[in-house]
Amino acid sequence: MKKLLVSTGGGDCPGLNAVIRGITKRAAQSGEWEVWGSFEAFNGVMENPPRIIKLDEQNTAGIHVIGGTMLGTTNKGNPLRFSEKQADGSVKIINKIPELVADLKRKGFDAVINIGGDGSQEISQAMHDAGMPVVGVPKTIDNDLSSTDFTFGFQTAVQIATDSFDRLVTTAASHHRVMIMEVMGRNAGWIALYTAIAGGAEICLIPEVPYDLQKVVKRIESRYANGRGFVNIVIAEGAHAKEGSVTSSKGEEGRIAVRLGGVAYTLSEQLKAAGLDADIRETVLGHTQRGGTPIAFDRVIASVFGVKAFELVLEGKFGELVVLLNNEYTSVPIKKAISAYNYVDPKGTLVQAAKGMGISFGD
Ligand code: F6P
Repeated sequence: MKKLLVSTGGGDCPGLNAVIRGITKRAAQSGEWEVWGSFEAFNGVMENPPRIIKLDEQNTAGIHVIGGTMLGTTNKGNPLRFSEKQADGSVKIINKIPELVADLKRKGFDAVINIGGDGSQEISQAMHDAGMPVVGVPKTIDNDLSSTDFTFGFQTAVQIATDSFDRLVTTAASHHRVMIMEVMGRNAGWIALYTAIAGGAEICLIPEVPYDLQKVVKRIESRYANGRGFVNIVIAEGAHAKEGSVTSSKGEEGRIAVRLGGVAYTLSEQLKAAGLDADIRETVLGHTQRGGTPIAFDRVIASVFGVKAFELVLEGKFGELVVLLNNEYTSVPIKKAISAYNYVDPKGTLVQAAKGMGISFGD
């Protein structure tokens, strides 16, 4: 039997378990491959003794409806830029990829399926370059990976955000308030844009369109002047004013990406400082957008990605990322997929349609 290792890395996302189940089921049909899972990305397989689990149809049964990942995950300990404490207390950044690949080969692994976002796919490419046959599966609620129409998890995050938005509308109307709802997405405004259209927001602020505070104030005032007396705003965590910068917290040890969050409060303060005479409340949805069961659409994408990823292994098509491109399930070189991000196009159809419905982007 050949040995396949499956890993889930980076932030979790609804649909990861469905991918794992898809891979395992298809591999069982092949009759030629054993599937193993490494706990917490590649950390598990590198530990001594390794923390890995043999995946089969019994221990993956029914997991496609469960959020999170049965393998656990981490966005620390990136093997490409691993922080290693030195004897003198200093920290040295080292590339552990050659060590990881040599270790996997020693343990008898013939191939790897790496399920993760942009950072994880950078690791996939480096492993592939170092001689490990790897197939990538794109995941992230942010939908910011290029070369795929959608990443799984995104639609679930939008549904969660829209359900929350709907609840905020009725309380905003009752109290004549300005409700600011912050959603995730890093530097991409997809979750905010979809939620604003689905929920019917008055204002949608996204990183791709830095906002003019005075225009946001004017828009809110006009809603009050029209006697409607309440405003619902969706703001993406990476949004910022034209003259401002993103709202982020201090980095954590071992973490590469800056941690965003809190822009709802920044905007609230900006509106008060600009003299807006309205009662403002802020809601930060945070990790609720990543939790719980994936909606049917994401279960389907994730399951098909799992099956397709294993079929790429069978065909020996390594260094590829499974994608949904122009509504077709296919694959592209990982190198191509990670060479560019997928951002909202301010001139694109969705933003123009939103503007056509009167949603202001503060520009
Ligand atoms: O990339 C997914 C994401 O949920 C982003 O939308 C968010 O900025 C980030 O991860 C949060 O990361 P963490 O789980 O480390 O707080």
